[in-house]
Amino acid sequence: MPDLSGSTAIVTGGARGIGLAMAGALAKCGASIGLIDLLPEVSDSAANLAKETGVVAAGVIADVRDAKAVEAAVEHLQQQLGTADLLITSAGITIWGDSTEVTSADWQRVLEINLSGTFYAAQSFARRLLAEGRHGSVIFVSSMSGRVVNIPQFQASYNSSKAAVSMLAKSLAVEWAPSGIRVNALEPGYTLSDMTRQFMDANPELAAQWTSLIPMGRMGEPADLVGALTYLASSESSYLTGQSIVIDGGYTAI
Ligand SMILES: NC(=O)c1ccc[n+]([C@@H]2O[C@H](COP(=O)([O-])OP(=O)(O)OC[C@H]3O[C@@H](n4cnc5c(N)ncnc54)[C@H](O)[C@@H]3O)[C@@H](O)[C@H]2O)c1
Repeated sequence: MPDLSGSTAIVTGGARGIGLAMAGALAKCGASIGLIDLLPEVSDSAANLAKETGVVAAGVIADVRDAKAVEAAVEHLQQQLGTADLLITSAGITIWGDSTEVTSADWQRVLEINLSGTFYAAQSFARRLLAEGRHGSVIFVSSMSGRVVNIPQFQASYNSSKAAVSMLAKSLAVEWAPSGIRVNALEPGYTLSDMTRQFMDANPELAAQWTSLIPMGRMGEPADLVGALTYLASSESSYLTGQSIVIDGGYTAI
């Protein structure tokens, strides 16, 4: 595990699931942690992290669809923790449905949270680092669904949003490369989290069907993402920007 003491990481969608697991991994490397989430338990999640790892952690409620709220949340965290040099964007949702039936409200919700919310967080993060002339690393939690179409569920909005998030990583990487801000994406395959557990509980036959399509024969755990996460967060990856790393047990290889 790299030594990230002296770093501060902001994690959107950090109240639970993959975001919280990633925040925990960065905290174990010594980084201070700022969590942003819509859920009120974000403060408890931060307090628990601080207790478990001994780092400074704070949580703030904000809807990533609202650029002003994101800016205010990042400002609030800056006051408490100093300027962040690591950003993880994990806030995201999926809505399933036949594309002919999907409402424009649902379509927009997915795009606004997954894509616009990712962009707003990156904006607020980079503004501060650029103003201070400091380097940093941004890691978007995209998805293998940005490059393959999951079955049997239909989720055109999700798939499209994640393809856009991975392209956003490349776009910002090129824009900010001269300033020393690296931007990469992780593209997990099916990963056991609060989100997927919800789907699996509602559709018990799904887990078996999804797993049957994964060459490694199991769904991923948030812990499977930690090696790549800490690598991208650390100076070990200092020449790596504008890339997406797929971590899917081989799903997209077939
Ligand atoms: N679980 C998987 O199989 C899987 C696979 C690939 C990618 N991902 C991606 O990983 C990320 C995390 O997913 P997860 O499985 O941990 O889901 P999750 O539902 O457990 O966590 C998502 C978090 O985002 C927060 N969030 C949602 N909308 C928000 C908003 N508008 N503003 C602020 N916060 C908001 C939620 O409150 C929640 O805490 C998502 O971007 C998801 O698309 C998940």
